[in-house]
Amino acid sequence: MKKILLLIIMGTCLHSMPAFSSSETDSVYLFAYANARNAGRDGLHFAWSSDGNDWHAIGNGSALVKSDYGRWGSEKRMLEPFLFQDENGLWQCVWFLTPEGDFAHVASPDLISWGRQTYYSVQDANIDDFTGRKRSYTMAQVDGKVLSGTVLRIEQDVVTALVNDRQSADLRQKLYAENTKDDSLRFAGLKPFVISIKPDIRLKKKISDMLIGIFFEDINYAADGGLYGELVQNRSFEYLVSDKEGRDKDWNAAKAWALNGNSDLPIDTAIPVHPVNKHYVILKKGDKLVNEGFDGIALKAGDRYRFSVFARPAGKKGKPFPRVDVYLTDQSGKVISDRIVLTTSGASDDRYWQKYEDMLTANQTTANARLEIHVQRGEPALDMISLFPEKTFKERKNGLRADLAQTIADIHPRFVRFPGGCVAHGDGLENMYRWKNTVGPLETRKSQRNIWRYHQSFGLGYYEYFQFCEDIGAEPLPVVAAGVPCQNSDRHGHKLGGQQCGIPMEQMGDYIQEVLDLIEWANGDASTTWGKVRAEAGHPEPFKLRYVGVGNEDLISDIFEERFTLIYKAVKEKYPEITVIGTVGPFNEGTDYTEGWKIARKLDVPMVDEHYYQSPGWFIHNQDFYDRYPRQGTKVYLGEYAAHLPGRPNNIETALTEALHIINLERNGDVVSMASYAPLLAKEGFTQWNPDLIYFNNTEVKPAVGYYVQQMCGQNSGDQYIPVFIGVPDVTDAVRKRVAVSLVQDSKSGDLIMKVVNLLPVDVRTDVDMAGIIPAASLAERIVLTGKPGDRKAEPVADSIDVSGRFEVTLPAYSFTLIRIKTE
Ligand code: AHR
Repeated sequence: MKKILLLIIMGTCLHSMPAFSSSETDSVYLFAYANARNAGRDGLHFAWSSDGNDWHAIGNGSALVKSDYGRWGSEKRMLEPFLFQDENGLWQCVWFLTPEGDFAHVASPDLISWGRQTYYSVQDANIDDFTGRKRSYTMAQVDGKVLSGTVLRIEQDVVTALVNDRQSADLRQKLYAENTKDDSLRFAGLKPFVISIKPDIRLKKKISDMLIGIFFEDINYAADGGLYGELVQNRSFEYLVSDKEGRDKDWNAAKAWALNGNSDLPIDTAIPVHPVNKHYVILKKGDKLVNEGFDGIALKAGDRYRFSVFARPAGKKGKPFPRVDVYLTDQSGKVISDRIVLTTSGASDDRYWQKYEDMLTANQTTANARLEIHVQRGEPALDMISLFPEKTFKERKNGLRADLAQTIADIHPRFVRFPGGCVAHGDGLENMYRWKNTVGPLETRKSQRNIWRYHQSFGLGYYEYFQFCEDIGAEPLPVVAAGVPCQNSDRHGHKLGGQQCGIPMEQMGDYIQEVLDLIEWANGDASTTWGKVRAEAGHPEPFKLRYVGVGNEDLISDIFEERFTLIYKAVKEKYPEITVIGTVGPFNEGTDYTEGWKIARKLDVPMVDEHYYQSPGWFIHNQDFYDRYPRQGTKVYLGEYAAHLPGRPNNIETALTEALHIINLERNGDVVSMASYAPLLAKEGFTQWNPDLIYFNNTEVKPAVGYYVQQMCGQNSGDQYIPVFIGVPDVTDAVRKRVAVSLVQDSKSGDLIMKVVNLLPVDVRTDVDMAGIIPAASLAERIVLTGKPGDRKAEPVADSIDVSGRFEVTLPAYSFTLIRIKTE
């Protein structure tokens, strides 16, 4: 390994720093350092000086490059960075990741843009061998602080470019920080005004008809305790203290259960229902086992609930078969349902697990019921204790919570990306989401820790995701890990953990086969190995999978590229009809974005998944983001986006900003094929991430304001874009940027759909000239979402308006207006 590393840097940095090429007068001193802020996680900073004494910090304290190694919070440290220029003029930076001597390397042509980072274990390489030079550090005083770093003599021009770059970054930051809080000042004196809108039908272009979709990730209790209909928490006693990394000692096999009033449960593992489902409980006569659900079990009087359990007699042979009574109670212990009397039978051998299933009818409506199992006779072993509403979405067994699923369906999403996000690539190799663990009989699914620090039962697994897509008419878009885990993974369990550890190359063949098997499982007929598994699960017809995501905003390292390339090529070769969606990092710029796009273009990947969570100001000032993209080649799937304000609300301001972005996406619908807001679901009281689209508790679904933007756009998408000329009076750039219009046509219905955002504090009147495009007198449906910027509650209001070849519409201050016009 050491040899390889030395070869990598040979010819670039084995020599000492070359003599400075320009004249002394054109050169200055550059001081490269890390400050002590944030325990070494503040990245690489620069200061410059003409005399080596008086130092000027560059870039207002912002770092030029940060360590991306390991986990947020505890890792990502850049200790003792050492900067030098190699004989080719390339800037090389090495730093320690840990006090033990693990280190990292990154290079830059200009000190502004930085390439991929690589990470080395102290066992494999020594930093001094790696650089081929002795590191030497100097002290300098910057902004009143004495710091240690590298001092170099450097061309004045390089520093000038660096200073300019940082200054424009600062300016951009100021623009991006703009929000409606300052609108009364920014728009003081602004009066309502009129704009004219005139489409040019001759310039009509085809755009994606898949633009609005959803991204489902099991975050914020989105799956277990959320969309997945199961009402019993920890039904298979598989919760582990390690799910929460030891932070909660009660998060264990007994979580959510009580036996005779206390939490000590006789858990056994000797004869499990399945080897991957180790834990079960053994009870004795008189025992009362209670499950509290996910913070209570919600019941509706008169509704039926499907109870099921795996049971076997655990007592000595010859003892009577166990008998248990099952019923529902309220908080006081009062029984509020009928009773199931369940007797294990037919099993003389105590190793024999059998599944029992029966219905309970609730006689009370409550948010807070409990499931109670009372042993009347014998010693039963019980596992997979489950309770589902009969009325799941589409009444499917092992189905989804109907109200939540319907709220999602009402968006009319054209696709569903699942199962994550970070959940897809996981917290370290052993935590990657492996689809095969999530299909087949429930008791055989190997549950695991959720990266968001709870538990994934995988009751909602790949079969259920695909079924849901089919039920709501959306394309499934499964995302598999690109052979690397999350770049923010813990180092735990890995030599140099986190993103930097890919699946060992000798195991990549098996992993690639797993990805190919997924496609066969989804699309193969019942005569194929995996198609048969799907058919046996109840879906003989193929699911018609067309898209597979490979990777999730991964750190674009050499390790990533090697693995992604193998997976991509294998899928392309075996299934050329599948659109593989690559990944270009977590931001709309930076190393992962640039390097990810380079790989996509090199391999001619049909589509890449972009992510960015940005301030409203960023969206307002980057409306031409995709207008700048090449029109040919790799397409964009904007897999995760949302407008983020300080405090992370989902309010009128963020919602209108997202509507503004969708308008810009529609205009660029020839480049951007799909887009999904993130995250989708959040359970009140269990929310790790804000804002989200749909909040819920056990009984209510509470769509956030931004939900209605997705719904309005999802229900009113088009496949043709008609450019519009917008005539605005002599107003400022700030005003102009806050009014956006798009016009699309839905070829199937012929309907024209105009979307207009007004992010200004005043009404804007529009004079729309559709002469020659729509009939002289026609009716249109208008939907308006409006409110005060800070409003977290607002719903769209629909009415119908008279439109003719020419009509006027007023856009209320802070509003999103949608007009759907029939053309026939
Ligand atoms: O949407 C929440 C998280 O944001 C996703 O899991 C991840 O991909 C991104 O960082």
